Amino acid sequence: MSTLLDGKATSNQIKEELTEQVAELTSAGKRPPHLAAVLVGNDGASLTYVGSKVRSCQKIGFESTLIQLDDTITQDELLATIDKLNKDNSLDGFIVQLPLPKHINEEVVLDAINPKKDVDGFHPTNFGKMALGMETFIPATPFGIMELLKRYALDISGKHAVVIGRSHIVGRPMSILLSNKGNPGNATVTLTHSRTQNLAEITKEADIVVSALGVPNFLTADMVKEGAIIIDVGITRVADEQHPKGYVIVGDVHFEEVSKKASYITPVPGGVGPMTIAMLLQNTMLAYTRNAS
Ligand code: GUN
Repeated sequence: MSTLLDGKATSNQIKEELTEQVAELTSAGKRPPHLAAVLVGNDGASLTYVGSKVRSCQKIGFESTLIQLDDTITQDELLATIDKLNKDNSLDGFIVQLPLPKHINEEVVLDAINPKKDVDGFHPTNFGKMALGMETFIPATPFGIMELLKRYALDISGKHAVVIGRSHIVGRPMSILLSNKGNPGNATVTLTHSRTQNLAEITKEADIVVSALGVPNFLTADMVKEGAIIIDVGITRVADEQHPKGYVIVGDVHFEEVSKKASYITPVPGGVGPMTIAMLLQNTMLAYTRNAS
């Protein structure tokens, strides 16, 4: 049986640490950190994530601003909003929730964000710095996974890590961070994706698997090595009429099977998801500190 990597408890601990830091700032007469989130359109999952980010800010004493824009907004209108946020001195950082509607070019939008306020770490400058192992903002989901490994003192140095999925938000940065110098880090990394052949042969060799694919129950017990560390980034909504919300959240990992073989495993929900939010808050505190000095 495996040990649970409890993202919920760990994220609560990080939020408590941040709450204390905010209290110190405000008792010294300083303003609290301020995060803004831009949400374009009404995608259900995005609404949930952004709502959760804003609520977490309020809980720890950060200021937060939610900017909701209609999905018919033009790219230029969105760029004008970003320009305003870039210039707003009361704001330490902001995010533009992805995905964006099809008529808006994501690359252009992310490139328009001031890298100093890019607490998602998606701007090419920040992504490049991350790849070079320089100080920057690290994308919240992979950052949360690294933090979870760190707080559970799991040593991945020299181990074989297999990442499934090459998205700009999770898989690609994850592969870079796992291989970067540091602790956690120094892993030997294989980045797999939709064109990968014989995936199961590769995952079976892995000491650590990070699955960021978005296919419910994809990773089964026959695909993993005994004693592997399993990180599940999947959060797919699957229709379920028994549930009051009409759906349940299902991970990429067949938890019931794989948890019998793994040494450590993240649950869904309560694993990577809450860590993503905690690290976004941590990045906002970092932006506050950097911009103040
Ligand atoms: N969509 C899915 N994950 C994320 C994230 O971490 N940040 C933003 N901005 N959009 C996302």
